[in-house]
Amino acid sequence: MCGIVGYIGDRTAWPIIIKGLQRLEYRGYDSAGIAVIDEGKLRLNKCRGRVSDLQNQVKGQSISGSLGIGHTRWATHGEPNDINAHPHVSMNGKIVVVHNGIIENYRTIRKSLQDAGYTFKGETDTEVLADFIEYIYMTQHVSAEQAIKVALNKVIGAYGLGIICTDEPDKLFGARKGSPLAVGVGQGEYFMASDATPIVEYTDKLVYLEDEQVVVLTRQGMEISDLKDVHVDPVITKIEFSADSIDKGGYEHFMLKEIHEQPNSLADTMRGRIVEQTQSINLGGISEVMPKLVSANRIIIVACGTSYHAGLVGEYLFEQFARINVEVEYASEFRYRDPIISEEDVVLVISQSGETADTLAALRMAKEKGATVIGICNVVGSSIARETHAGIYTHAGPEIGVASTKAFTSQVVALTMMALAIGRKRGKIEDARYSELISGLLQLPELVERVLKGDEHIKEVSRAYQLAQNAIYLGRGYLFPVALEGALKLKEISYIHAEGYPAAEMKHGPIALIDNCMPVFVLATRDKYYDKVVNNIQEVKARKGQVVAIVTEGDTEIARLADYVIEIPECDEALLPMLAVVPLQLISYHIAVMRRCDVDQPRNLAKSVTVE
Ligand code: F6R
Repeated sequence: MCGIVGYIGDRTAWPIIIKGLQRLEYRGYDSAGIAVIDEGKLRLNKCRGRVSDLQNQVKGQSISGSLGIGHTRWATHGEPNDINAHPHVSMNGKIVVVHNGIIENYRTIRKSLQDAGYTFKGETDTEVLADFIEYIYMTQHVSAEQAIKVALNKVIGAYGLGIICTDEPDKLFGARKGSPLAVGVGQGEYFMASDATPIVEYTDKLVYLEDEQVVVLTRQGMEISDLKDVHVDPVITKIEFSADSIDKGGYEHFMLKEIHEQPNSLADTMRGRIVEQTQSINLGGISEVMPKLVSANRIIIVACGTSYHAGLVGEYLFEQFARINVEVEYASEFRYRDPIISEEDVVLVISQSGETADTLAALRMAKEKGATVIGICNVVGSSIARETHAGIYTHAGPEIGVASTKAFTSQVVALTMMALAIGRKRGKIEDARYSELISGLLQLPELVERVLKGDEHIKEVSRAYQLAQNAIYLGRGYLFPVALEGALKLKEISYIHAEGYPAAEMKHGPIALIDNCMPVFVLATRDKYYDKVVNNIQEVKARKGQVVAIVTEGDTEIARLADYVIEIPECDEALLPMLAVVPLQLISYHIAVMRRCDVDQPRNLAKSVTVE
């Protein structure tokens, strides 16, 4: 979603901010803008469209100035156009704001400002906030920092903010509530951004602001305080990834790179956690809450989108290996339903970004109700990672493509390790079975590598369906969530309508959709459902549907029935999701490229959904 970049130091701010905004493009946006203080004067450029459009706007002009803020906007209030793009400048030109989040009471504030003579250029809550800060600054005769705090004490909603006051041109202000903001600490210079990606090439020292904190950056130092004006000592953390890891590394798209990274990302999730010699699983991040997990009556898994699908795989894993009752919930539903949660429950939140607004709100609610809350997150230091009682980092590395791929497989590996560790402690899994699964997990990177080697064939299969308008995905057991994930991948990047179903549900409705134009992607590996799924394939063929089957290597039976087969290596059925999802990721990727879709930044989507 929206992204913020800020800079104060001795270098020219404009190119640093432009590059930072490009780094944030993956979050999804529809307009961009930059404000710099250039020779004491405010210089503002913003437009609907891409960061490259913004660059074109100033082609041939030299923009100096070593303090500035920039923004990529994903429209919530007001359509995406030049006026609604950020930064927003207050009516008298004193306050300049970039904002992530939503100011919920902006209409009330807007009305009171109108009564005081303010007029508005656009429709955004952010413009109202800029005017509100200015109004306080001018009428209460306080410093810009004080005006920001007075305003934020009255604001209801979520914000990550970068602010400039033109009367105080050597200060850069930031503030956060519910929407992340980090400060990169350099030598006599500071960087501000909504995540670490624009900062990593300049410094690895990062300070995450907490909710209701305001930071004042000057070339001489950093001062953090809360909205009650109490000083806060900054906690400096180290960025754990390198600048190289956020480049495309020779691939045409981030998504393709990330799909191909899965052998490594899976190994990274397991590294240091599975010790082959002793057949042990060490999950340091949750060791303190292990007794709670072992005695839990129930685990409630809460997540959104792809992370929710990983959670569904987790349900099968925890029930099978740990014999614990599991419920999987969409965070957006769970948080508003007043669910029954007790201190005996464990709530497990899963999030790649660690910033998804609904998941974060669900986490907070579960904590308030006394549950132990555990996280599985990819982004180190993210809000969800910091607010949970304990957790596991997936260590999949930065995921830049909007469509989640390697994060999913790493989440499933993390869930598998958890289920096995808990099952072992609860005495619910036999030693031989446990050892089998440990070996299976350790072989996964190599097996995924083998699936990736079949990419040319997968591309050819994809070509046959590039013009499809609808698609159905079928799977059973562990592969049902994979069917949901395959359908989500296709619709989000290729804009083809797709639905995932448990294969046996087909007869209860979706079969009516089948005709000779309908591709049906069937997860049909040799597991306990094999014969039943073969029947489903026959039912589709009897109605002239097109079948693409993901099968176990060497399967000749389905090859005779299906239009195309894609083989994956044989593996334990509990580990199959990590293998079977890979061809589906590749199919979506190739179809989207063939349809000339913007694979890494699909329309209307945001990588990190920081508003509900
Ligand atoms: C799909 C996708 C989204 C995210 C969802 C949750 O490819 O990326 O559905 O999975 O927005 O995001 P996180 O995992 O960051 O909480």
